[in-house]
Amino acid sequence: MITQSSPWHAYAAQITDRPTGRLPVPRRLQWTTHPATGPGAEAFGISVRGRHLLELGCGPGHSAAYLAGRERAHVTAVDLVDLQIRRSREHYGHLPDVTYLTCEALRFLRHSGGRFDGVYSIFGAIGLTDPAVLLPAVARRLNPHRPLVFSVPHPHRRTGTIPTTRAARPRADVLALPDGTRHPLVRWELDVAQWSTVLARNGFRLSQAQEFTDPRRPRSPATLLITARRV
Ligand SMILES: C[S@@+](CC[C@H](N)C(=O)[O-])C[C@H]1O[C@@H](n2cnc3c(N)ncnc32)[C@H](O)[C@@H]1O
Repeated sequence: MITQSSPWHAYAAQITDRPTGRLPVPRRLQWTTHPATGPGAEAFGISVRGRHLLELGCGPGHSAAYLAGRERAHVTAVDLVDLQIRRSREHYGHLPDVTYLTCEALRFLRHSGGRFDGVYSIFGAIGLTDPAVLLPAVARRLNPHRPLVFSVPHPHRRTGTIPTTRAARPRADVLALPDGTRHPLVRWELDVAQWSTVLARNGFRLSQAQEFTDPRRPRSPATLLITARRV
């Protein structure tokens, strides 16, 4: 399996906010699990003003709205769940420089046109799709030397220790939803060395790996934020 869709439909229906009409443009970019931690748009390592960015797995669209509305980037944001895209458009569709599309990330990368100056994912498609398949598709759509930035759940978040496997294999996980249902999914939970290797194999150079702890659970890192450059 290279992609998975079904748990995210139930997630969209239960976890994220209801469509509520227009929302104010968010005040900051949220790469981590806690609002007060992590960098903003400087994580891209370039000025994003006037640049064409692509978000893979945008959920309700807040990050794309921030980057278009406050940083003046031109943003295309995709999510495989139509409810998320309807929500995004209802919240932020009035902004001139953001386009929200219902599409699976790999499908979008392979079957649409154009190139981007930056690609990003915030707990989105990267980490939920086989990186050996997704990264080459990203590389084909990203201009040389431009950034790929993504945050994923930290691979050591449960134990605080290093996993025993050295292979970049997916791990079975469960999405537990408020209605009590539990949805199986797989995550590619790589450590920094494994990300560095898989990025290098697919046309990128890892430039920075940052980990962030959620103050509500201070014993283990919660978020891994990776910045890479297209070579
Ligand atoms: C945990 S949510 C994060 C949403 C958003 N990035 C945020 O930070 O609020 C994961 C999102 O990724 C989307 N997603 C998962 N796999 C995807 C894929 N292969 N292509 C496009 N979207 C995907 C899901 O539908 C969901 O909206």
